[in-house]
Amino acid sequence: SWTMLNIVEESVEAVRRQVGDGRAICALSGGVDSAVAAALVQRAIGDRLTCVFVDHGLLRKGEAEQVERDFVAATGVKLRVVDAAERFLKALSGVTDPEEKRKIIGREFIRVFEDEQRAIMADGPVDFLVQGTLYPDVVESGGGTGTANIKSHHNVGGLPEDLQFTLVEPLRTLFKDEVRRVGEELGLPAAMVWRQPFPGPGLGIRIVGEVTRERLEILREADAIAREELSRAGLDRQIWQCPVVLLADVRSVGVQGDGRTYGHPVVLRPVTSEDAMTADWSRVPYDVLSRISTRITNEVREINRVVLDVTSKPPGTIEWE
Ligand code: XMP
Repeated sequence: SWTMLNIVEESVEAVRRQVGDGRAICALSGGVDSAVAAALVQRAIGDRLTCVFVDHGLLRKGEAEQVERDFVAATGVKLRVVDAAERFLKALSGVTDPEEKRKIIGREFIRVFEDEQRAIMADGPVDFLVQGTLYPDVVESGGGTGTANIKSHHNVGGLPEDLQFTLVEPLRTLFKDEVRRVGEELGLPAAMVWRQPFPGPGLGIRIVGEVTRERLEILREADAIAREELSRAGLDRQIWQCPVVLLADVRSVGVQGDGRTYGHPVVLRPVTSEDAMTADWSRVPYDVLSRISTRITNEVREINRVVLDVTSKPPGTIEWE
């Protein structure tokens, strides 16, 4: 039967045939697809694969560590980590328009990646670029092969089109749930394999308003609490994703601890979905919502109000920006 082990072995063989004794690079985003693709290619060609992880400072709590520590421990992948938080913050300073944020983050990502690529190529030529393209992406982009054809919407963590690489796409025939099972078969950390979708521009598009270090800190804490409580309630596989959005330019009056506060609201956006094209707001049990709200307002001083987004998609998108 066509078991996961077969799929893994076949894919590893196919990568070996394609890459021969060449070298490959791969940009890790922290997401499931790039992680599983990298792990497969690592199994095929060992340290002739170099992974690059650009930490743009817009990740959620614990995510960078997950890649740097747990993923490397599980796979033995050769990894270069670039702490580029400063650079991204600087580039985003004063910017509030969502599309402009996306463009800036995408542009900076490519610049940082190109620097790394040059450094890696100083040790010898690299002909192959690994991408975690899935079957639905192939269908959506018209089934073309050999070029970096990525929806503009999903271009962050994507790469410039003029890079002279042959693509290695070991997940091209797989659906998301198969990719997760391949990831498990390869021994990747469960927290990574079962991770909810997270946009390339990260928390940068979950702060309505300018992105600053302080605001990122606030949102990171609130998001970690929401994720923890949803997981604890066993809702991870029921909910497609639950963005937590900081309305950074909105203030409202509250009373916390000893006195009056004038803090910010966060929005909880739990949704159910099959493919993110359409979505419905998720009927998270009231007691779970209540725990999330109580904890966020107790533990994150700057937030004095938690509100629930009850809009489906359409008309609302899943993300707020
Ligand atoms: P929307 O907000 O358009 O999101 O309903 C649909 C799905 O796509 C994710 N998303 C992105 N993913 N880069 C990405 O890699 C992006 O710029 C981006 N914008 C949205 C979103 O999290 C949801 O899963």
